[in-house]
Amino acid sequence: MSALIEASAVRHHYGDRAVLSLDALSLEAGAQHLVLGPSGCGKTTLLHALAGLMLPDAGSIRVDGQDLRALSNAQRDRFRGRNIGLIFQRLHLVSAVSVLRNLALARHFGRKPPDRARALALLDALGLAHRADAMPAELSHGEAQRVAIARALINQPRILLADEPTSSLDDANAREVIELLRTASEREGATLLVVTHDQRLRDRFPSATLLQVPEAEAA
Ligand SMILES: Nc1ncnc2c1ncn2[C@@H]1O[C@H](COP(=O)(O)OP(=O)(O)O)[C@@H](O)[C@H]1O
Ligand SMILES: [Mg+2]
Repeated sequence: MSALIEASAVRHHYGDRAVLSLDALSLEAGAQHLVLGPSGCGKTTLLHALAGLMLPDAGSIRVDGQDLRALSNAQRDRFRGRNIGLIFQRLHLVSAVSVLRNLALARHFGRKPPDRARALALLDALGLAHRADAMPAELSHGEAQRVAIARALINQPRILLADEPTSSLDDANAREVIELLRTASEREGATLLVVTHDQRLRDRFPSATLLQVPEAEAA
């Protein structure tokens, strides 16, 4: 059986500058994995490539056996909607509507029927039951981060990808968010990949890949 996520020889450039170089990444279903590296080593680029938000210049990315390069843009969008939950570094909550409505919108965009009970259960599991009717601007950063986790999980993705989920949190909140990410992913049966420069997370995952800023290529 092949891995759920299989990436090899992934390279990306902006202009003539190499910004991502990843030799191999292979995650089995249910894995919880950390990609750790300094700012500018291409972590966000990698996350976007794994989510099929962009195609890297070179390399192969397979998700559940599907080569992302073989899909059209529209097919990639559908594939992402069905399989991948994303937590962006900037959370992108919709500020005009409540927490619960943010989850409902995510269901809608994922072409899934409304499921208020599931939304409330997820919020409850993330310690946010009392914030369901709050507006995003009323949330602490830690709360907003947890809403973003709930939103990423609402459509039952097989894979949860999180970009710097702890970078602006103090130690206690960072620990809590990682614990929540790990337990919620496990409960939902989602494979978890976190990318970060946050060295505090180093020992908090069962496995990790260290990424480096690609060396400039010889002219
Ligand atoms: N759209 C873009 N155009 C040009 N350069 C970019 C673009 N996006 C990112 N970069 C550059 O690529 C490098 C890698 O970016 P990124 O993937 O965001 O790294 P990380 O998330 O590890 O900090 C950075 O130096 C960044 O400035
Ligand atoms: Mg980044």
